[in-house]
Amino acid sequence: MFTLQATDGSARAGVLHLRHGTTRTPVFMPVGTQATVKGLTPDQLLDLDLDIILGNTFHLGLRPGGEVLSALGGVHTFAHWPRNVLTDSGGFQMVSLLRLATVSEAGVHFQSPVDGSQVLLTPELSIQLQNQIGADIIMALDDVVPTTASNVERFREAAARTVRWLDRCIGAHARPSEQLLFAIVQGGLSPELRRYCLRELVARELPGYAIGGLAGGEEKDKFWQVVQLCTRELPHDKPRYCMGVGYPEDLLVCVALGVDMFDCVYPARTARFGSALVDAEAPGMLKIKSAAMFKDSRPIEPQCPCECCRHYSRAYLHVLVNRDPAVVGHLLTVHNISYLTRFMRGAREAIFKNTFADYVHKWFARRYPSGA
Ligand code: GUN
Ligand code: ZN
Repeated sequence: MFTLQATDGSARAGVLHLRHGTTRTPVFMPVGTQATVKGLTPDQLLDLDLDIILGNTFHLGLRPGGEVLSALGGVHTFAHWPRNVLTDSGGFQMVSLLRLATVSEAGVHFQSPVDGSQVLLTPELSIQLQNQIGADIIMALDDVVPTTASNVERFREAAARTVRWLDRCIGAHARPSEQLLFAIVQGGLSPELRRYCLRELVARELPGYAIGGLAGGEEKDKFWQVVQLCTRELPHDKPRYCMGVGYPEDLLVCVALGVDMFDCVYPARTARFGSALVDAEAPGMLKIKSAAMFKDSRPIEPQCPCECCRHYSRAYLHVLVNRDPAVVGHLLTVHNISYLTRFMRGAREAIFKNTFADYVHKWFARRYPSGA
């Protein structure tokens, strides 16, 4: 269940009441493919005060598999994570990770990277696996076409198929009182297709809605137009989740347009490349390998409460990154997730105080000090 607590313009603050506690929105959900964020332990995640993390049906369903997970008490027990989990339905990961994946009306066909066997992920199987994994929020299987694709007919087919698959997902969902099923709006960059898909999804009265098929390299103004079109037509009393979005500036724009939830591998991935997200130093990122770090005794961000900033200097991380890059990757992941979590909590507080516009202005002014 979702409670909308405050609005500031189109920006919203709320809480999602889920089986493993409340989730405060707007929220950034780090991606933990195997139900922990790459390089971090669940205890480190708890230390970051996260309300919810993301898991993937694709990864968990292949190994250890739905039956094993269900026998072991579900993903929370399995991964020792006491708070909420959202699982993505799997199709998007296959299409984006596996070049050999193909889509038909039946589902997504792919070769298992675990044992090479042919697998068909149908809407029914995706929901069955997600019922077994036991996440608090589960996603309908959608037909995802990258926005940069050129075949208009393919977008039309994908939007219509996403609606048909949604009905199959709703029919297959065995635990609707325990797990919220979210539908995903597709339709590429076409307002007409997005509207069609929205109307069909909204008519099915699901507990939440996601905006899919974005953040794939399309122009920003097109991306924002689609988000705005969707948030305007989605019901106000349901959470809205923009999938695969995690750059700070995109988060701010989408929150301003009325989105409540986000996920992205970005903070963890960029950490593994030696980059730390920061506010004050343009372009919003410190490269720990840069020679400028050599004698810098400050933490990444002095005001940050994370483990990395509490204990280590930039100079130390700079030396360590050559000796033990994995440890530095972990520490920077902790910091980057802390950064985005605090960033969203700050946005949430500003919405309560009706100062969200000021929050956005101040952030951009810190980020681009010369006005560039
Ligand atoms: N993750 C990022 N974008 C998408 C999408 O369009 N669909 C799904 N299922 N997952 C995503
Ligand atoms: Zn930090």
